[in-house]
Amino acid sequence: MYAKFHSIGAYVPSKVLSNEDLEKMVETSNEWILKRTGIKERRIAGDNEVTSDMATKASKIAIERAGLEVTDIDLVVCTTVTPDYFNMPATACIISDKLGIKNVQAFDISAACSGFVYALSIAKAFVESGMKKHVLIVGAEKFSSIVDYTDRSTCILFGDGAGAAVISATNDKSEAFIDVHASADGSYADFLVTPAPGSIHPVSQKVIDEGLNFVQMKGNETFKLAVKTLTKDVKNILAKNAINSEDIPHFIPHQANYRIIKAVGDALKMREDQVVVTVHKYGNTSAASIPMAINDIYESGRLKKGELMLLDTFGGGLTWASALLPFAGETL
Ligand code: UT7
Repeated sequence: MYAKFHSIGAYVPSKVLSNEDLEKMVETSNEWILKRTGIKERRIAGDNEVTSDMATKASKIAIERAGLEVTDIDLVVCTTVTPDYFNMPATACIISDKLGIKNVQAFDISAACSGFVYALSIAKAFVESGMKKHVLIVGAEKFSSIVDYTDRSTCILFGDGAGAAVISATNDKSEAFIDVHASADGSYADFLVTPAPGSIHPVSQKVIDEGLNFVQMKGNETFKLAVKTLTKDVKNILAKNAINSEDIPHFIPHQANYRIIKAVGDALKMREDQVVVTVHKYGNTSAASIPMAINDIYESGRLKKGELMLLDTFGGGLTWASALLPFAGETL
């Protein structure tokens, strides 16, 4: 039994937060943000729109595009660092309920921006072992709920959204995953952290006063490590599978900063037409970044059945992951 990437779906909230809007909120400029990050705007969820709402909308599309009913899904994995609740119940349980999926295993994983590729590795293992047939994986973030909109070093970067995929069983090796690699190094845990709430800092007046509930990032250090790690990871997975970078039609890196994407693309000698870029319109949507980018090229007609995708991601933990797989869904 093999696992195949059966379908993709995504949801983006309608509210746009532009660089010009941010100029009115913190000491920054459109020029600085564009030059340092490539981001022009990002989407922000509505006040009453939560992570599971966005995830459910993306999931419905993915299930429909796979030609399945919700009753066919036998595992739901949600990856997010902005769950509906910290930390119980899992957002995956709420998504299942909103979709009408009953009595099916559902759980969340936490791997920050690497979450979607981590979830792919989990889905692959469940499917290849024969335990599950159709796994729904969802990367969804209401990142705006942990952003301090007075901190110019982080508030310009992040956005909200969701992306979902169905990973299904197949006997046809030509449509199967080729490889997935995921790794972590906790010695860099302080590079990207949301200090509270948690067992170290349960909710208290101190947490509120010091803003410990907001994301903190060592931006420049993270940037340098991201370029190095993403490049090395791709080189490894390509070498291991004897594939040349010029033979990859769709290189889909985590969308954190255009300068990171460009540096990694150049180091791998990727042509511009191979590299998928959505960071200018959505910013960094963490676990939703990769599936939203896949959906973007799918809906624009760029991604066709059978074409190879190379996914590469990096995030808090620190975590990183890459995947090499054909798109096995129907061309739109
Ligand atoms: O998704 C997980 C992975 N995340 C990432 O990979 C993010 C990685 N980091 C980055 O994308 C970049 O480091 C940033 C975009 C966050 C920052 O860019 P940078 O080129 O690394 O700038 P910096 O942090 O070294 O700051 C340079 C200057 C500083 O001023 P001084 O100390 O040189 O006077 C900052 O205070 O830019 C200043 N600065 C800003 N200025 C205007 C920082 N943020 C802003 C801002 N507007 N929004």
